[in-house]
Amino acid sequence: MIGEDLLDIGGQVALVTGAGQNAGRAIAMELARHNAGGIAVNDFVAERAEAVAEEIRAMGVPAIAVPFDVCDLEAVRAAVARARAELGPVTVLVNNAGMAGPNTQIRPSKVFWEEDPSEWGKFLGTNLFGVFNCCHATIPAMVEANRGRIVTIVSDSGRTGEPRLAVYAAAKAGANGFVRSIAKEVGRYNITCNAVSLSSLMPDMSEEQLAKVLESDQAKAQLSRYIVRRYGKSSDVAALVAFLCSDAAEWITGQTYPLNGGYVTG
Ligand SMILES: NC(=O)c1ccc[n+]([C@@H]2O[C@H](COP(=O)([O-])OP(=O)(O)OC[C@H]3O[C@@H](n4cnc5c(N)ncnc54)[C@H](O)[C@@H]3O)[C@@H](O)[C@H]2O)c1
Repeated sequence: MIGEDLLDIGGQVALVTGAGQNAGRAIAMELARHNAGGIAVNDFVAERAEAVAEEIRAMGVPAIAVPFDVCDLEAVRAAVARARAELGPVTVLVNNAGMAGPNTQIRPSKVFWEEDPSEWGKFLGTNLFGVFNCCHATIPAMVEANRGRIVTIVSDSGRTGEPRLAVYAAAKAGANGFVRSIAKEVGRYNITCNAVSLSSLMPDMSEEQLAKVLESDQAKAQLSRYIVRRYGKSSDVAALVAFLCSDAAEWITGQTYPLNGGYVTG
């Protein structure tokens, strides 16, 4: 039954990983706006998580910061238990934490065969094992509640390939495949499990900063490959994730939704 608000989350408690900034922050705020019963705001960087939790509390929605590294299963379990005690059982999980850990400046710059193998672990850890850990820690309470939503943010690099991002792309492709099996395991408990596959987002910034970025030849060349000629915004991601978490999406599971301005079609 769909209520007046199409995106109604129905009072469920959500855990959003990597929610200290950009897409994750927007997702946490959007779920709060659409009747989440509480939000556990995760980020590796504690101050970022606390700042977003504070913004959500200011909206009148219960929220706590749960800073942990998604790669650390024991820390994930402890945070999920804390969220249950303080907010209620987590029945919405958004696996948003991505890339290579808390330092968002780290990007691989070499072709794969020149990379040091010691670099691979951090991409697999955050983007693949982090998804395993958060699903493993939260699904039992969803099964108990006989309801739930899991949304995992992946990347078009994992669907189409991206030079100098091979291990990251492989980890995202792995997470995308994982989602389908989990969907089949949890469906009988009214839990849906989907992925959202992104192309390039622009980090949150002022209009002036954005105008400057868009002046560059690099940005113009990149955007010429998008049917809708702009970078993705955090709000684009938040809207689709909120929909997939809502009652309106109860018949959607095991799917990957490209969210990419038409960068890749099909
Ligand atoms: N930005 C893009 O162009 C783009 C493109 C495709 C996919 N994605 C994916 O979308 C998601 C959001 O991207 P974004 O650009 O908004 O992210 P971002 O890099 O701006 O923020 C990610 C947040 O996650 C936190 N984080 C990183 N590793 C963590 C870990 N191991 N444990 C807990 N927290 C951790 C960081 O501290 C940071 O605050 C990510 O999964 C990313 O891989 C982004």
